[in-house]
Amino acid sequence: MTKKILILPGDGIGPEIIAEAVKVLAFLRDGSDLDIAMDEALVGGAAIDATGEPLPDATLDLARQADAVLLGAVGGPKWEPLPIEIRPEKGLLGLRRELGLFANLRPAILYPQLADASSLKPELVAGLDIMIVRELTGGIYFGQPRGVSAREGGERVGVNTLRYTESEIRRICEVAFDIAGKRDKRVCSVDKANVLECTELWREVATDVGAGYPNVVLSHMYVDNAAMQLIRAPKQFDVMVTTNMFGDILSDAAAMLTGSIGMLPSASLNETGKGMYEPIHGSAPDIAGKGTANPLATILSVAMMLRYSLDQPGLAERIEGAVSNVLDAGLRTSDIMSEGMRQVGTCDMGDAVVNAMADASRA
Ligand code: IPM
Ligand code: MG
Repeated sequence: MTKKILILPGDGIGPEIIAEAVKVLAFLRDGSDLDIAMDEALVGGAAIDATGEPLPDATLDLARQADAVLLGAVGGPKWEPLPIEIRPEKGLLGLRRELGLFANLRPAILYPQLADASSLKPELVAGLDIMIVRELTGGIYFGQPRGVSAREGGERVGVNTLRYTESEIRRICEVAFDIAGKRDKRVCSVDKANVLECTELWREVATDVGAGYPNVVLSHMYVDNAAMQLIRAPKQFDVMVTTNMFGDILSDAAAMLTGSIGMLPSASLNETGKGMYEPIHGSAPDIAGKGTANPLATILSVAMMLRYSLDQPGLAERIEGAVSNVLDAGLRTSDIMSEGMRQVGTCDMGDAVVNAMADASRA
């Protein structure tokens, strides 16, 4: 049956990098047994400009009907003066919540070709392969009460609430343990159980879930220490599982260990395996429209989509292999450029990946 893919280019460099990912999808649609239909819709600032809302009903309806969603990025300075309720980011958060995408998988893999681009010494990051499993529909991002309230005693008060139910903790921990079972069989659960009761509960539930996975080793770490360990000795980690906000922060740090945030894809999954796929970098308004952005994180997000939502692991590997071949050939966008390599723009990089896939299938 034809699988429906909803494409949401979004803002900033979003449309440019999405165009390259669409090239890859179209190449596979036309040249393999991949049976997909692509549709496109507005989200974020682009949707605000056209409709006044960051997540129009029409977009949400299409996203609900789709088997998978591919998103570029949202946000930019143009919309920053707007009230938080109608900022572009609300489009992204609304999609996560409405589609129930509670499990955010953020791999941090170092491509050996890019070892020099890391801010850490090559020996600390060689072979790095971490999977951060971030809870995505709960915690302080969504907890009530929230907001800035009228003056109390002469000043305004800002409130956000960190809240997790046992079942929310359990299901994300199960995802992490399932993934670890297929990898190096180690889960590090990150919390702040020495201060926050909510994450004391997190630690208890993680321990309880872990008891059901005797072949996976569970450790616990406070988030401040985890941030330090990621920079001190990142290879100690296999799978990390954590709350929405801790995962937001740690995944940016982990990404930078790999040299460029421009290389890293992500998947956000619901209970049924439906997913939204996006690069973990943002809309990079400073380079938008220049044709210099790195499309590889978005192209690798397509690979994750094929693996997790479309049951096409072979095609996912073809994309990943092509990306590796293009790096081997010395092609680099400016964010990962180093001496002796050939600098290319967004569009040339996308073409190179498609050509590498074509070459590999001829070989
Ligand atoms: C991310 C981003 C988002 C988040 C923003 C854009 C709302 O930083 O996906 O990591 O905080 O989750
Ligand atoms: Mg973030």
